[in-house]
Amino acid sequence: MSDPSLFDPARYAPVRRPLLDASGLPADCYRDERFFQRELAQVFGRGWLMLGREDMVPERGDFFTVDHAGAALIVLRDHDGRVRALHNVCRHRGARLVDVPAGAATGRTASIVCPYHAWSFALDGSLRACVGMEDTRAFDKADWPLAAARCETWAGFVWVSLDDAAPPLLDWLGELPERLAPYRLQDMVATRVVTHDVECNWKTWVENFMEGYHIPTVHRSTISKLKAVNHPEEPRGNGQYTAIFEQHDGTLALLPGDAGFPPIEGLDGESVRGSRFMLVYPTTMFALTVDAMWCFQCLPLAPERTRIVHTSLFPRSRTARPDFEALAANYYKRQDRVVKEDNDIAAWQQRGLRSPMARPGRFATKERIVHALDNWILDRVLGE
Ligand code: FES
Repeated sequence: MSDPSLFDPARYAPVRRPLLDASGLPADCYRDERFFQRELAQVFGRGWLMLGREDMVPERGDFFTVDHAGAALIVLRDHDGRVRALHNVCRHRGARLVDVPAGAATGRTASIVCPYHAWSFALDGSLRACVGMEDTRAFDKADWPLAAARCETWAGFVWVSLDDAAPPLLDWLGELPERLAPYRLQDMVATRVVTHDVECNWKTWVENFMEGYHIPTVHRSTISKLKAVNHPEEPRGNGQYTAIFEQHDGTLALLPGDAGFPPIEGLDGESVRGSRFMLVYPTTMFALTVDAMWCFQCLPLAPERTRIVHTSLFPRSRTARPDFEALAANYYKRQDRVVKEDNDIAAWQQRGLRSPMARPGRFATKERIVHALDNWILDRVLGE
């Protein structure tokens, strides 16, 4: 049974202290259904989430589906070439319409036809046909389009917000686009999407991604050998994101001894001397290094179950090379091994968090972003 003080701000006073005086979130924040539902409504139901790449729906009628914060969505390219997010719920009696999860092959259709009574919707969501409704009084097809979610694009990424009151996407991102401009993300191609369902709370996975404290142990046989220097950064503006910069020679995207691509053209300064790990709150994660990038979307399915959508990207010029697949396989190998290590430790941590004896711990300096994320969440979960 939930603690009756679950949403009492006094309960979280130790989390609110400065990093080196603070404690982490109580364990029930990682498993309690009430806390989880509050997060869905006030964290995921607001703001913006990146749900894929425009090049995953290259042609008119291409679509994929995603379940996000309790909402079922269809991301598609309409007849005018615009990318939209429509709710995947029939306006007749609420049936799910289509199902092609991101990571599977993209669907393609000229219209969206409900499998129940065959109501048919155009790609802009308008209701086009509903045979059998001729006698229904005061019924006008124009009044029954599919509901739409806000959908915007930046640098080839498709972002969705379920909140009509959310700021525009570019306000949410702040100066992030300017900071990532050297990587020319609009020229990247998503070459592979892999989906994992992990038995952990969503925060367990995101916190792990944004701290390097675990690398020498969890990744002892993979990336710990790369000897990066960890330099946590502060955001320089008001964007809803945070970042780590790791200084190193060469790339962080390959295991030692594996061959890869040359650096991204035009990278200079700090960008060519290391890697960036960015978290756009709450769960959009980018990893950018000198020759490639990969990203993760973390979709909460239940308090202790999370879907990780892992996308690999390369500059378009690399994908045209005859040796692309052979070299890309080295990047996929590195990503898959490290992601498995992260998935396993997240599920392992979650097993510990189920114990009634799990108590909040203290933070190391390398866990600055874990502390920042926990407080960002509390601002929203306790805020209203
Ligand atoms: Fe979709 Fe009836 S529920 S047509």
